[in-house]
Amino acid sequence: MKILGAGSLHLIYALLVLLHMQTSIGSNSTTTDDGVKCIKSERQALLAFKQGLVDEHGRLSSWGSEEEKKNCCEWEGVQCGNTTGHITMLDLATNSYDRHFILRGNLSPSLFELQYLIYLDLSENNFKLSHIPESIGSLNKIQHLDLYYCNLSGSLPTQLANLTSLQYLNLGYNNFNSVKNLERLSRLSYLQYLYLNDIDLSKVNNVWLRYFSCSPWSNGQQFDCFYIPMVVQL
Ligand SMILES: *[C@@H]1O[C@H](CO)[C@@H](O)[C@H](O)[C@H]1NC(C)=O
Ligand SMILES: *[C@@H]1O[C@H](CO)[C@@H](O)[C@H](O)[C@H]1NC(C)=O
Ligand SMILES: *[C@@H]1O[C@H](CO)[C@@H](O)[C@H](O)[C@H]1NC(C)=O
Ligand SMILES: *[C@@H]1O[C@H](CO)[C@@H](O)[C@H](O)[C@H]1NC(C)=O
Repeated sequence: MKILGAGSLHLIYALLVLLHMQTSIGSNSTTTDDGVKCIKSERQALLAFKQGLVDEHGRLSSWGSEEEKKNCCEWEGVQCGNTTGHITMLDLATNSYDRHFILRGNLSPSLFELQYLIYLDLSENNFKLSHIPESIGSLNKIQHLDLYYCNLSGSLPTQLANLTSLQYLNLGYNNFNSVKNLERLSRLSYLQYLYLNDIDLSKVNNVWLRYFSCSPWSNGQQFDCFYIPMVVQL
């Protein structure tokens, strides 16, 4: 009988170490035994967001805590990253839907626990004069944020300036207070599209406004602003 040489033993040891590494990586991974790839805390954040909404026509019927609905990556409007399993995209825009699928209710801050979001589109839903929570500042990977025609109110949180990966920001046609200070948005150096339609910018320093392409309404109080063609340096 052949005895294993020292070389083979090393090989076996190396294999065992590899195997161990695999299982320890696996234990931290988000894939459970049945292949469901959805992070529990993110599922709970979405469910808390849904709880604040009235969804008369069951648009979010795939969202639930039942066993068979466990995989939040397969929920309506949700996409997860291929490798990480984190939710990277949430598209609940109503514009491609029949209007009666509109979602109504609170814009729950729990939504902004989804810190891996790259793309968030809630446009044309009715958040019933909710304010944008300050916790929006935690979406530090977000590139596309669309809150167009969402019936939001209050002031624009200063935390928007923390979203330094933003390329597209649409806040148009809501009920925001008059904006005084837009300079801080100049920190958003990747921003290519900024829509501030129907927001009262009459108190904003004109020096800064000319970096936008803004046209005033006939009342002189509101402006339609579209595009920043270059990085604004003040
Ligand atoms: C493992 O889990 C910890 C805690 O949830 C997390 O911070 C870390 O990024 C994870 N590592 C990997 C490789 O996913
Ligand atoms: C993730 O998977 C989808 C579908 O298989 C693919 O189209 C996409 O390119 C992948 N994304 C990345 C970042 O690998
Ligand atoms: C905005 O929300 C308020 C409060 O619920 C409601 O009275 C108003 O009709 C809404 N506006 C639109 C355009 O839906
Ligand atoms: C936002 O940026 C400010 C600096 O302008 C910083 O003090 C603050 O901690 C940041 N907040 C978040 C949530 O990242």
